[in-house]
Amino acid sequence: MAERKSKKSIARRLPIHDFQDDIVADVRRSKALVVVGYTGSGKTTQLPQFLYEAVCSKHGMIGVTQPRRVAALSVAARVAQEMKCTLGREVGYQVRFDDCTSQDTQIKYMTDGCLLREFLDDRELSRYSVIILDEAHERSLDTDILFGLMKEKFLREEEDSVRRHQLKVVVMSATLDSGKFSKFFNSCPVFEIPGKLFPVKDVYCNMIKPEDVKNPSYCSQAVRVVMDIHTDQPQGDILVFLTGQAEIEKTCDILYKKSEELDYREDVRDPDVTSLLILPVYGSMPTEQQQRIFSPADSGVRKCIVATNIAGTSLTIDGIRYVVDSGFVKQLSYNPRTGLDTLQVVPISKSEAIQRAGRAGRTAPGRCYRLYNREFYDQCMPEDMLPEIQRTSLTSVVLSLKSMGIHNVLRFHYLDPPEERMLLEALKQLFYFDAIDRSGRVTPLGRLLVQYPLPPGLARAVISSGSHGCQDLLLPIAAMLSVENVFIRPAEGKKQVEAQQCHQRLAHLAGGSNDFTTLLTVFQKSKESDSPARWCRENYIHWRGVKMALSIHQQLQGILDKQTQSADFPRQKLAGSQSELLRRALCDGFFNHIARRSATGRSFRTMDGHASTVFIHPSSVLFGEEAQLDWVIFHEVVWTSKVYMRTVCPVRYSWVQDLLPKLHQLDLSSLSGCQLISDEPTPTAQDVHKPLLGGQEASSSLIPD
Ligand code: CDP
Ligand code: MG
Repeated sequence: MAERKSKKSIARRLPIHDFQDDIVADVRRSKALVVVGYTGSGKTTQLPQFLYEAVCSKHGMIGVTQPRRVAALSVAARVAQEMKCTLGREVGYQVRFDDCTSQDTQIKYMTDGCLLREFLDDRELSRYSVIILDEAHERSLDTDILFGLMKEKFLREEEDSVRRHQLKVVVMSATLDSGKFSKFFNSCPVFEIPGKLFPVKDVYCNMIKPEDVKNPSYCSQAVRVVMDIHTDQPQGDILVFLTGQAEIEKTCDILYKKSEELDYREDVRDPDVTSLLILPVYGSMPTEQQQRIFSPADSGVRKCIVATNIAGTSLTIDGIRYVVDSGFVKQLSYNPRTGLDTLQVVPISKSEAIQRAGRAGRTAPGRCYRLYNREFYDQCMPEDMLPEIQRTSLTSVVLSLKSMGIHNVLRFHYLDPPEERMLLEALKQLFYFDAIDRSGRVTPLGRLLVQYPLPPGLARAVISSGSHGCQDLLLPIAAMLSVENVFIRPAEGKKQVEAQQCHQRLAHLAGGSNDFTTLLTVFQKSKESDSPARWCRENYIHWRGVKMALSIHQQLQGILDKQTQSADFPRQKLAGSQSELLRRALCDGFFNHIARRSATGRSFRTMDGHASTVFIHPSSVLFGEEAQLDWVIFHEVVWTSKVYMRTVCPVRYSWVQDLLPKLHQLDLSSLSGCQLISDEPTPTAQDVHKPLLGGQEASSSLIPD
């Protein structure tokens, strides 16, 4: 019976299996290979097993990178199951803050960021025999950097032919534009897994029009379309593409209610589809939930998966016949106007829209309901997404490269080079943080910073807290800032009010004066409680977020403890209460995220040279209290109708006055000459309009050859 067959025999029917020998032969023959195949053909789960069976891992592990954490976790679990081994033994995974590998691990799934960190310790990657760069078409920043590092490694191997360790690379992609990848690795061979999708009928729902691009209301529209499909269309599961965790949860809440109402109305139900099983899917989804999205629903039950872009190509879910495409994605982009990375909901590209539609035609003909109209598709959607390397801040990556000894970051091997302006911006940020010196070399502080799997600013706050002696307060905050938003905000009704009251109570318990300490209170209160999970539930807090933060906290503590044992660790005794020391440590980490209230109104102006107008986010405890504030620092900005600062802390001018001039030392004149540090007085509002960094001259002083 089909159901009795093992996972392995199910997997055996995948298209890639017809080509096992050819692929293995190609990997043996060449140093680099590009494998292209449509989503679901079996690349991610099967190809590493082929190489394992062919003993390609004799000289080291097979490492497979994924741009997304959830994909790494769920694929590793699936492959362990297929190979009938315990996860963490022969097959393991490693993602930031979670290492599930052992001495026995032969196939290791990991995020691209994790492999990048391994390069920091060992540029030869001597523990590996093959590196598989999966989902290359996604063009994530870290995968792009790995491309360059692999190429460097190959060039070194060529120079030094006696070197024993010969690494191989396999690039896997779900889209056909693989020419670029092959060309990058000396025009290496490309293996195309043949296969085609069933026809997918596009239905333009005409709900979102070009004029809605700034403020689309796709969630409510998606609910309508899902309910229509459920009542009108024959069997087949539904996959809805939305953009983020909060809206996915809200939409699922509404769908639960609607489907419950339907359960009472037998007249509208298709007799073959009795109920709807609603499953959210997003990046920080708990592991227990992950397996449920892959298992087929009971007979008569229609699955409705509400997902972020993650279900585009990184997770293949069988049985989908209907796709509902919002046409939007949440994207982190550097905003040159504010000089900050901003999370923004933007239209997807046309190729992305085609990928999404394709999810409906994997196992049978399907339908894709595009909530937008044809004009929106034609006018608002770009042909392709800009690769991440060309749209986000490069600060972390540049510090990593420099720590590996790659000083000339302008001349690195990029698949698509970022704008020089962005590289200089990253160098400028690193200089602000004292992570590099004026000649562009990594400083002792920079070497401490790079050891944390955190953005450099947050890592700097951690180190400052260690040197001021307030790490007990700051480390929990750093951990909480490293997980997704933990505050549950129900969609509507009584629960929404209750949740708001709970969150306000917590903020006031924390002193009610800054959002960072609210996070600290959530962490401490849940930890102290007899049952942290129950405490979280009662207070409308995501327990899994807090649980993760507890584990991250321990890891950060481990790194800091090791660093503070060294005599070189910077120490600075400051007078002041613990809470003041905490805010000063936060200042050290986020002084480039500083804003001052405008003379009138509720707006603030950033003081880092961009002088853009920002507002306090309505979720902040300081929202409505603007009149009492002067200087604030913030963790991040979100851009909806306005640019909002999220997670805000008031600071005193005296704490930042020594740091602020640093933000303005790097103007064009100082970069072109040798004088990087000028004795300028504290800048006034006019001073902050300094020319943007740019041009060739800059490279001469910051980037040594
Ligand atoms: O990488 P690619 O898109 O080519 O395919 P894959 O991820 O290797 O998926 C191959 C098959 O494994 C699909 O039928 C998936 O549904 C299944 N799979 C699964 O059941 N559970 C997972 N966690 C991952 C894949
Ligand atoms: Mg895949």
